[in-house]
Amino acid sequence: MTDTVSRTETARLAFDGRELEMPVLRGSEDEAAVDISKLRAETGLVTMDIGYGNTGSCTSAITYLDGEAGVLRYRGYPIEQLAGQSSFLEVAYLLIYGELPTRQQLDAFVSEITHHTLIREEMRHFFDSFPADAHPMAVLASGTVGMSTFYPDSWEIFDPDAVEITTLRLIAKLPTLAAWSFKKAIGQAYVYPRNDLGYSANLLHMMFAVPSEPYEVKPEVAEALDLLLILHADHEQNASTSTVRMVGSTHVNMYASISAGINALWGPLHGGANEAVINTLERIVKSGGDVAKYVALAKDPNANFKLPGFGHRVYKNFDPRATIIKRAADRVLDATGADDALFEVALKLEEVALNDEYFVQRKLYPNVDFYSGLIYRAIGFPKNMFTNCFAIGRLPGWIAQWREMIASSETKIGRPRQVYTGVKQRDYVPIEAR
Ligand code: SDX
Repeated sequence: MTDTVSRTETARLAFDGRELEMPVLRGSEDEAAVDISKLRAETGLVTMDIGYGNTGSCTSAITYLDGEAGVLRYRGYPIEQLAGQSSFLEVAYLLIYGELPTRQQLDAFVSEITHHTLIREEMRHFFDSFPADAHPMAVLASGTVGMSTFYPDSWEIFDPDAVEITTLRLIAKLPTLAAWSFKKAIGQAYVYPRNDLGYSANLLHMMFAVPSEPYEVKPEVAEALDLLLILHADHEQNASTSTVRMVGSTHVNMYASISAGINALWGPLHGGANEAVINTLERIVKSGGDVAKYVALAKDPNANFKLPGFGHRVYKNFDPRATIIKRAADRVLDATGADDALFEVALKLEEVALNDEYFVQRKLYPNVDFYSGLIYRAIGFPKNMFTNCFAIGRLPGWIAQWREMIASSETKIGRPRQVYTGVKQRDYVPIEAR
């Protein structure tokens, strides 16, 4: 991958009677960033950017998005084209290795993944240590870092072969971990992966098959799940990906970095929003379809309620993934005959919100999580498994970003600064004198 960063321009900072000229770097899509790496040494200043909305943490060649134009591309390929023509494992290969695979490369990759889907048999007992109502994200995060204890080679983070086998094991085993956490929760027997099934079909098989009778995966359902996984596969430096990079920058193994990303994704402001959307839609249906009440609640600064599935840190126009998922939701609901009362409420909620000045002024549009839950639900996933599905989809992106970070000569251990606002120096007072 050639370095497509130009460093021919500069920016000036004037402060306290001094001037500092700083290099400006410009990427392949003409994004520009001022390089402040010498700021503190030369001026004593640090920058403040709570939430990092104006701060680049890295250069990356993996995913490009334009929040204003609603553009999303994986390694240069528009998400609309990949959604319509690719498969999840082909997209995973593209994100990780940078190029679309040849037929032979894809077949080899798929075969490797297929033959690593079993988790160590001892881990069957791991699930027994959790209560039945344990949230599957807690089990997935623990199981992911727990897997590292079986693979000491995963600590060889600069050994290409170790990174390769860890990549394959994670992509292959996360669906098994996720499905078995679900089976444990409902008290059913664990279903082993099958090597004759595709990736998404295997997840459905492990989730919904039972040992006592055959289970037929519907192709249109497997396709819908594969599409959702493609749409979730990467999203540049979102909260969970930045977490994976931050944790990975300490040189801990990849399982631990990915486990940290799973925990970050769990939050309802991030990947956990897909579960929160369905909860809200169900509450609206239960309240007789009173959409206006929840829109009003979302606008009430004292209600501490944000409408799940609306708004985005970066997309201030529309989330291209939501557009694709909305179309797929319609198809899947037709194919599965699922109750579309929630879909009707979702359409109404979207219409009301998009015409409300509060949402329009704040550029709050439906995001990837707004419709995805409707599809997961129509497929038969319980709500608390939705974010596990998001994590399985995001995994190749996390891995690609982790590999790019570890391989970059620019990478340093992440360590932001702060501005101290606490009390100034004071002397210790013995407890008798307090
Ligand atoms: C994902 O970053 C990524 O790329 C994430 C993701 C990925 O693929 O990795 O795209 C996946 O996480 C999607 C987002 C899922 N989260 C939700 O749907 C939760 C609901 N959304 C909000 O919590 C919020 O929109 C965020 C957190 C997503 C984004 O917050 P921002 O951009 O920082 O916006 P903000 O919090 O500064 O809000 C700006 C204004 C505020 O009002 P004012 O103070 O200006 O009066 O908009 C309001 C907010 O109160 N606002 C909302 C709202 N989202 C923002 N008001 C009601 N409902 C909402 N959903």
